[in-house]
Amino acid sequence: MENNIVEVFLKQFMVAWQMARIYELEHPKFKTALEELYATLTSIFNDRQELVIGIFSDELSSGEDIFFDLSRKVIASIDYLTNVGIERLAFMSGISKEELIKFFSFLMTPIDKIPGNPQDYLKSTGIENIVIGKLKAQRATDKTNKSEAALKANQYEACLENVAQSMEALINNDIVDTLRLGFISHKAMDSLIGDHKIFLELVKVKGHDISTFMHLLNVCILSMFFSYKLGFSKEDCLNIGISGLFHDIGKLLISKKILTKPGGLNDEEFSKMQSHTILGSERLLSHHDVMTVLPSVVAFEHHLRWGGGGYPKTLSPRTPHIASQIITICDAYDAFSQRRTYKSDYPSETIHRIMTTDKAHRYSPELLDIFFKIVGVWPKGTIVMLEDQRVAIVREVNEANIFSPKVEIVSGNSKEMVDLNEKKEVKIHRSLNSLAEGEKYLEFI
Ligand SMILES: [Fe+2]
Ligand SMILES: [Fe+2]
Repeated sequence: MENNIVEVFLKQFMVAWQMARIYELEHPKFKTALEELYATLTSIFNDRQELVIGIFSDELSSGEDIFFDLSRKVIASIDYLTNVGIERLAFMSGISKEELIKFFSFLMTPIDKIPGNPQDYLKSTGIENIVIGKLKAQRATDKTNKSEAALKANQYEACLENVAQSMEALINNDIVDTLRLGFISHKAMDSLIGDHKIFLELVKVKGHDISTFMHLLNVCILSMFFSYKLGFSKEDCLNIGISGLFHDIGKLLISKKILTKPGGLNDEEFSKMQSHTILGSERLLSHHDVMTVLPSVVAFEHHLRWGGGGYPKTLSPRTPHIASQIITICDAYDAFSQRRTYKSDYPSETIHRIMTTDKAHRYSPELLDIFFKIVGVWPKGTIVMLEDQRVAIVREVNEANIFSPKVEIVSGNSKEMVDLNEKKEVKIHRSLNSLAEGEKYLEFI
């Protein structure tokens, strides 16, 4: 009984954190979550003076208890806490609601904006009754020494694990865990958007199953990035991201034999494969109460073509929902990019060529133009060879001229940043496959 209440507290803490991230600290939904959290904390302090939460080897614990189940769901948040150097959190009786609000505000501050020691920073904002600390100083330093790209690759892998669990729940028709879902989409929204290429290069593909989940997570991240750039509200972006996450869920309901069959599919198998749109849509519809109806619409429409045709067959011609149009583009783009697993990937410039040649037929031409303005022909993190044979990493896409990004030269002795839009005489020749000739430059991403 005793520890049930601590688990309840931890769940409410994560929910309040999530609400703060979606709605900001002034919103009634955050305030309600905070009230509930505060009430639980007050009743915990009926018979003790402090509540200590430890984070040890990525598990949340209190006293003798380790909350494995909860820890797996909120791994992205645990990762955030340990990255700021927090491995021990002590709440003291006497804590006020205001201190809790300030603490959530602290948790939403980007790591690099926290000056010096986090505990001193907390004190400076007036938080007296929450003490944070490290269990092992060493580990926190290890983490801060990691490059930003490696850190993001870690966060991506944590999200991936949550994606796998969420998909499993949906396939078994279990309850959709909104807490887990919230953390995937928020983590993706807060720290992973805009770095699609980096994950493809740095995260190792551990087999067929995981590459399916990678595809789903990538489409989620890309579609949120795209819709954010298109000017959608944060809530809309999150809904589109969740729809991206589940667009191919129907595939997981089809026999693995068909999915993994080498060579071509016969007619019957092919139409079974195409039925993933309907199967997925139906399954998602039965969860519309927690996820809205959008993921179901997108699962149904994501293989419909903008210019008509595609599958499934519809009774009358229809223009897909804007969310489906966004996800169709991200879906195709990621599918082309992921061919890297076969060591014979499409170079970025080829993907750009194939997709723009198809435009006005498969994709909305207007959206496709904006998409490539945002991700560039060579996305951030791509290893490229210049026409003068030097090797460089793309650091920044130039929306005004997608063929001329800002790059960092990494071959030879002197590393330098070059804005190809300013130095018109230097041009990109082609991208390098990171599993082959580009491999030795991976460390520079
Ligand atoms: Fe699909
Ligand atoms: Fe897909």
